[in-house]
Amino acid sequence: MNSQQLNADAPSSLLLDVNNLKVTFKTEDGDVTAVNNLNFKLHQGETLGIVGESGSGKSQTAFALMGLLANNGRVDGIASLNGKNLLAMSQKELNKIRAAEMAMIFQDPMTSLNPYMKIGKQLTEVLKFHQDISDAEATKKALNMLDAVKIPEAAKRLKMYPHEFSGGMRQRVMIAMALLCEPKLLIADEPTTALDVTVQAQIMALLKELQKDFNTAIIMITHDLGVVAGSCDKVLVMYAGQTMEYGSTNDIFYTPSHPYSIGLLNAIPRIDGQNDTLMTIPGNPPNLANIHQGCPFMPRCIFATEACINSPQLMPFGDNRLRACFRDMKELS
Ligand SMILES: Nc1ncnc2c1ncn2[C@@H]1O[C@H](COP(=O)(O)OP(=O)(O)O)[C@@H](O)[C@H]1O
Ligand SMILES: [Mg+2]
Repeated sequence: MNSQQLNADAPSSLLLDVNNLKVTFKTEDGDVTAVNNLNFKLHQGETLGIVGESGSGKSQTAFALMGLLANNGRVDGIASLNGKNLLAMSQKELNKIRAAEMAMIFQDPMTSLNPYMKIGKQLTEVLKFHQDISDAEATKKALNMLDAVKIPEAAKRLKMYPHEFSGGMRQRVMIAMALLCEPKLLIADEPTTALDVTVQAQIMALLKELQKDFNTAIIMITHDLGVVAGSCDKVLVMYAGQTMEYGSTNDIFYTPSHPYSIGLLNAIPRIDGQNDTLMTIPGNPPNLANIHQGCPFMPRCIFATEACINSPQLMPFGDNRLRACFRDMKELS
């Protein structure tokens, strides 16, 4: 893959085309730009990881695409799903598309599950809203989906309330609900962060399996570069609402070129125990309400020079990626 292919139009399989996505919030301290000119493409069945620390704009990117921004938020740009601009749709149009063509799973399953309604009813209601099917057919489909996400004794489970499920099982129910109408796009926002490590691995394996079965494209949002290594084709590294680096997972994982990507990678504990002392990036993400000029990562960057007071553009770097940094890689080796 080269940087042209990264953004290549393969019309037959291009699913989502995001151009200059910008999310701005009106606040008492003035306008806050949470997402700043994001560009990426997603093809059918592909997985893109969006990675960055807390507050980097990952969730707002997802909410903007799903039409779920808070009232003080405003979105600009174009995001075409199968050629239709999601950002120009009315709530009514979005209601038709959500669940049917795109769906989202959240870190906390209770965000999307109704605590007062039995799981079976929650699943069949989604189906009946989008499809012209009988109660019996909807129940059968719901049952099949619970089987697909490997919930044991699915028939019994349909009659239970969300609180009767464990955290991992609730996350499976949410995945079932998201994939019920077989959407072509699934956005998973930190889907395993709240779960313990073994359950995390099971949920990731399940998502991968279902992705193959349904040919779903996934946007996998995480603060953990380790999560993307096993699951994503491409990675977009975000900081302060901007793309720092965008390329194939292999490239970014094995030879990260942006100082921020290197920092994120160093923060992953290695199985071989070689970096037992977990390195973190010193400092904190910026306050978006008064962000300085130039590269947003500059104050925390050990490679920063005077050049960095000008904003680095996102430029092709090597064959395989785009990078927003002035640093000459040769200096490092
Ligand atoms: N309703 C809001 N009003 C003002 N600012 C907001 C609002 N929602 C989010 N933000 C800003 O957007 C930034 C990015 O948030 P978010 O996308 O949730 O980050 P994350 O990468 O952790 O998912 C936050 O740091 C915050 O400054
Ligand atoms: Mg988030």
